[in-house]
Amino acid sequence: MNWLKNKLNFDFSFGGFGKKTTAVLGIDITTTVVKLLELSKHGDHYKVESYMVAPLPRDAVVDKHITNVEVIGDAIKKALQRSGTKLKQAAVAVGGSSVITKLIVLPDGLTDDEMAEQIMIEAEQYIPYSIDEVNFDFEVQDKNEIDSSRVNVLLAASRKENVDDRVAALAIAGLKAKVVDIETFAIENAFVLLANQLPYSIENKTIVVIEIGANLTTLHVLYNSRAIYTREQNFGGKQLTEDIQRTYGLTYEEAGVSKKLGGLPDNYESDVLEPFKRNMVQQIQRAIQFFVASNASRPIDCVIIAGGCASIAGVDQLVSQSLGVPTYIANPFVNMELSSRVNPKSLGKDAPAMLIACGLALRSFDE
Ligand SMILES: Nc1ncnc2c1ncn2[C@@H]1O[C@H](COP(=O)(O)OP(=O)(O)OP(=O)(O)O)[C@@H](O)[C@H]1O
Ligand SMILES: [Mg+2]
Repeated sequence: MNWLKNKLNFDFSFGGFGKKTTAVLGIDITTTVVKLLELSKHGDHYKVESYMVAPLPRDAVVDKHITNVEVIGDAIKKALQRSGTKLKQAAVAVGGSSVITKLIVLPDGLTDDEMAEQIMIEAEQYIPYSIDEVNFDFEVQDKNEIDSSRVNVLLAASRKENVDDRVAALAIAGLKAKVVDIETFAIENAFVLLANQLPYSIENKTIVVIEIGANLTTLHVLYNSRAIYTREQNFGGKQLTEDIQRTYGLTYEEAGVSKKLGGLPDNYESDVLEPFKRNMVQQIQRAIQFFVASNASRPIDCVIIAGGCASIAGVDQLVSQSLGVPTYIANPFVNMELSSRVNPKSLGKDAPAMLIACGLALRSFDE
């Protein structure tokens, strides 16, 4: 996808396959932090050149919507300085309900310009917003199965402010938005790295990648490395932080720190952590049930747990026991070399939560 192609005056590419000769910094702006990642490529191997995770104040991002562009811009600026990266261009993503993707059918043989024109004329059919309110992009997928004179086209649209706010936040940090991608595509892009973790080829495999973050749980189902299903639900580590806060009378911030670093009373595991883990497994089961209900004939080959909550010890065993499916913890950095600037221990801990940032950083190497 390259949103340069449409007629709405973008000076950057959105998603997909625009030619990029310069490296981009992958930046994932979440509800709680900004995650920044620079990769370099040497033959078939990647190297982590720099990475940083910097906290955001509460409610600076709500439901993927940036409420305060300045605050985000400043956080990115600080993270940039601490990371030591020299890159000046970045890739970010929009996601969630702010993005609509649809498979549409158009005549074969149109130029990109003609296709953009056609989509703009017919836009009302495809998207519930006025065409002036959205950025859109499209990518021809394959010939239509029923009518060979037509092609299947993937159309993606996002409300303009979602794109504009991200571009503006990067500008405050002194960065140019080279790519504005879609989160699902970033996950799809990062999937090649996760495939390195699996003991078999991913060909014809149906693989669940479930990201459990702070506020959100997102289920992605991939078949032959393509995302075929995505679903979000409100669940995440914030719930555990709040349980700790309530049980031990701590502030939210204290609870968040002790959750990661330990030092909580002896009954923490049995009374607080275990119930949360069981809840987490139920949430995963429920998310998968929604997928199975709509794709009953498709057996799942394995589950990969991603997001910060994947770092909770033992969740992979619990999930594999309850689902009866092999389960792995996402590590996109497996086999990667690390620059001396990167702290291996903290990168190791953050690894499962860096999938979107990885997918975005990989856009540096688009052909
Ligand atoms: N070692 C750990 N043990 C327990 N919880 C952890 C650990 N590491 C991270 N977390 C939790 O994971 C969550 C953050 O995960 P992640 O970075 O994937 O979320 P996010 O992308 O910032 O949020 P979201 O996607 O919901 O907007 C936080 O609740 C954090 O406390
Ligand atoms: Mg996240």
